[in-house]
Amino acid sequence: MSQPNPKEPDPSNGDGNSKLTWIILALVALAVIGSLITDSAFAETPTPTPTTTSSPTPTAIGDPPGFTNPTATPTPEPTTPIVCGVNCFNPSLHSIDAAASQWVVVNKLRPLSPITYKPKLDKTINLAVPAADAYRKLKTAVAKSGNGTLCLNSGYRSYTTQTNTYANALRLYGKKTAEALAAHPGHSEHQTGLAADVSTTALGCRIGSFGSSKASAWVAKNAHTFGFIVRYPNKLQNITGYQYEPWHLRFVGVELATQIRNAKVLTLEQFWQLPAAPNYKN
Ligand code: DAL
Ligand code: ZN
Repeated sequence: MSQPNPKEPDPSNGDGNSKLTWIILALVALAVIGSLITDSAFAETPTPTPTTTSSPTPTAIGDPPGFTNPTATPTPEPTTPIVCGVNCFNPSLHSIDAAASQWVVVNKLRPLSPITYKPKLDKTINLAVPAADAYRKLKTAVAKSGNGTLCLNSGYRSYTTQTNTYANALRLYGKKTAEALAAHPGHSEHQTGLAADVSTTALGCRIGSFGSSKASAWVAKNAHTFGFIVRYPNKLQNITGYQYEPWHLRFVGVELATQIRNAKVLTLEQFWQLPAAPNYKN
């Protein structure tokens, strides 16, 4: 006889063993039947179908503590919408002091360093490269919105050009008004290449009446999405040092422009908690 197969009963073991084998077989059979009955009982319990008509919202109320339902589809964790607010804005990303930084704050108390700083300019638009790229996009968006064709009345101005700009204002309007209109050389955002005086072709690209145009309203509402702020808002000359200039857009990048908007402040001085700059030191 060949080697008995351990998985089969061995008839040579006699009656006692044979009975034991039959008892074991009967027990196994009972266990299998029991298991089938239990499975089919569960099978009759309807499996909850996940609701597909609505997705979980952040306000979904979870099960009470200790509640378990093993057959239910697990409830997804409530998701909180990611909002790029104060928690994800990095205030150290750029310098507010370096002349070449897109966040540089220039005002009557914060001259450029070096005072004759010159930025790297775009090849076709008279602005620093990042400001020029953003201006192109802004111009396209204004046109698409049906509010006219934007034009650049004045962009980058060198130290020498700004000297002339201020001198002209002084000659035309006198000291008090000139100070509210034009920066001294070395103190102008135009010298950074990040400031754009804009108007529309319908206005002959003159800035004087831009503030009452539809384009101006659209720009005031949407420019931050292109990285611009209206740098000299109405009635804040005591902070900025300049009268309302709805045409003077300052490129700071989308992150900061949006952050300023969300912070519900209007000026760089307020946002960075810098001293108000209504006048020069000397
Ligand atoms: N008009 C702004 C203040 C400038 O001259 O820079
Ligand atoms: Zn300007």
